[in-house]
Amino acid sequence: MSTPRSARRPLIAGNWKMNLDHVAAIRLVQDLALRLRGFDHKMVDISIHPPFTDLRTVEGIIGADRLPIQLGAQHCSSHEDGAFTGEISLAMLSRLSVASVIVGHSERRQFFSMTDSDVAATARAVLTHDLTPIICVGETGEERESGVTHEVLVRQVTAALGGVDRGVEERIVIAYEPIWAIGTGVAATAEDAQTACQAIRALIASDRGEASERVRVLYGGSAKPENAEELMGMPDVDGLLVGGASLGAESFAAIIAATATCYGQTAGKS
Ligand code: 13P
Repeated sequence: MSTPRSARRPLIAGNWKMNLDHVAAIRLVQDLALRLRGFDHKMVDISIHPPFTDLRTVEGIIGADRLPIQLGAQHCSSHEDGAFTGEISLAMLSRLSVASVIVGHSERRQFFSMTDSDVAATARAVLTHDLTPIICVGETGEERESGVTHEVLVRQVTAALGGVDRGVEERIVIAYEPIWAIGTGVAATAEDAQTACQAIRALIASDRGEASERVRVLYGGSAKPENAEELMGMPDVDGLLVGGASLGAESFAAIIAATATCYGQTAGKS
């Protein structure tokens, strides 16, 4: 018997990318806190992933106001420490109460030459430090046009699982982010997102069996208040990795609210 979808708590994660300095971060988090007042926090997990230079400030606000928001990073080194100029270690992130790290975002793969094996090594390191890796996968527009989306997902998911020991699968999150949908305003349709997220879960199942039912699979790429409810209505879409729309408290809070509504309505469905 498969685990009901309602057993997987939805996760709405905001990836700020290289936006908002620590002063702007204070404004955004405080505004978000106001908008989340009275919100049933048991319904939806929320994480925000500011730039490294904002982490200390945002940690302070979350801690002082006991906000129901987890702090996340956008990247980390797979190495413990040493001569890696410009990199940030997991030990450093842990000291700042960082709970999760985005691993292998397409922008890291594209602009910083991160390979599938780097993604696996980084996911392994994140898990070793008891943090949650949010592992990103997804095809380019060209790959989609040539009909090789599934092959790309097979390659990326299989490689990423190489960094995940048996028995800890439920601690990982996979984010399906088709590159052609990132920052373009054109999201995948809810059906296409479902097809890809379902395929990712099936890939995990083929290697790890029913543990796949406990892995959260997110969709990312032009997610916004207008499409959040439809995307979150899909049975294999367990959350959203939000870029642009996480830079405004109003739009990010609206996505969280849409998710809560959707789960309120579909809770108990499998
Ligand atoms: P957008 O929501 O801006 O398309 O970005 C998606 C993304 O890359 C999140 O990691």
